Amino acid sequence: TQDVYQIVDGTKVPYHFNAETVRSALNYEAQPDDIFIVSFPKSGTTWIENVVFGLLNDGKAFDDDMGYYLSQTPYAERFGQNSIMGMVRPGSIKMHVPFNYIPHHPKAKYVCIIRNPKDVCVSFYHFVREIPLYAHFNAKFNTFFEDFIHGNTPYGDYFEHLRSICDHKDDTNVLLISYEQMQVDLTGVVLKVAEFLNINQNKEVLEKILEHASFTYMKQKFDKAHNTCHAQKSDKSQTFSFPLTFVRTGVAGNWSSQMNDEQVQLLDQKMADFMREIPGLNELLWPKAKL
Ligand code: A3P
Repeated sequence: TQDVYQIVDGTKVPYHFNAETVRSALNYEAQPDDIFIVSFPKSGTTWIENVVFGLLNDGKAFDDDMGYYLSQTPYAERFGQNSIMGMVRPGSIKMHVPFNYIPHHPKAKYVCIIRNPKDVCVSFYHFVREIPLYAHFNAKFNTFFEDFIHGNTPYGDYFEHLRSICDHKDDTNVLLISYEQMQVDLTGVVLKVAEFLNINQNKEVLEKILEHASFTYMKQKFDKAHNTCHAQKSDKSQTFSFPLTFVRTGVAGNWSSQMNDEQVQLLDQKMADFMREIPGLNELLWPKAKL
């Protein structure tokens, strides 16, 4: 097998990213009005990003102008510090490195989204298979599973990442939400994020945000617009350009079709151990969800 990540300043990032670009993002000096979206890949990042975008734009849909959307929601590790400096403000900065690597400012806000590891693992598997350079994963789910539980994927070990976020769950400038919570009560999550970001919204705006964040809407509009825009923007300085699916099945419990009993047990056990260490986390993040 080949490594599918590289280590930049001590943290694992996709190996096809430019190391200097990644480093520039890690060295960005956070500003008091920054909003960071923090997540392990495939945890619902794009979903919460769209909610934040809607809140910052009076309910405007991302597909009205995808170029604008992308310039307001830069992916820091991929596009570097320049993409943050040139960002339309107020915007949100997406980062996947563990929390302790994210630029910190006591007044900046951090919206963290987490998702149960079984669905993350399956979603990640399908995602990396779309990346030509990850030929290694074109093999079998079992191969990917081994890499996932050993932290041998971009952004490293899921549980270490989760811990890095949970260590900050009580910080006043940190909001912790879960993918499963969004599925159970999207309205509640949107209101929570609005309050956290001090954004006034009204019924009309809220309805628009809910529509634009629905799975059907995003599946239909987001990936197409996102990929078209990405393809248009690509130039010779980019090392890759290919369509990626950010909106796939969008359900909780999709893991059951992919994992065998042993794999399920292993991740369930790890998660149960983790939950024991962080009292209250289950109630906070998965109040009604069946994982
Ligand atoms: P699946 O692969 O399980 O379908 P990220 O944005 O962090 O890469 O996460 C992608 C995951 O979020 C994918 O999970 C995708 O389908 C899901 N997702 C994106 N938008 C969604 C929505 N509006 N409703 C439900 N799930 C959504």
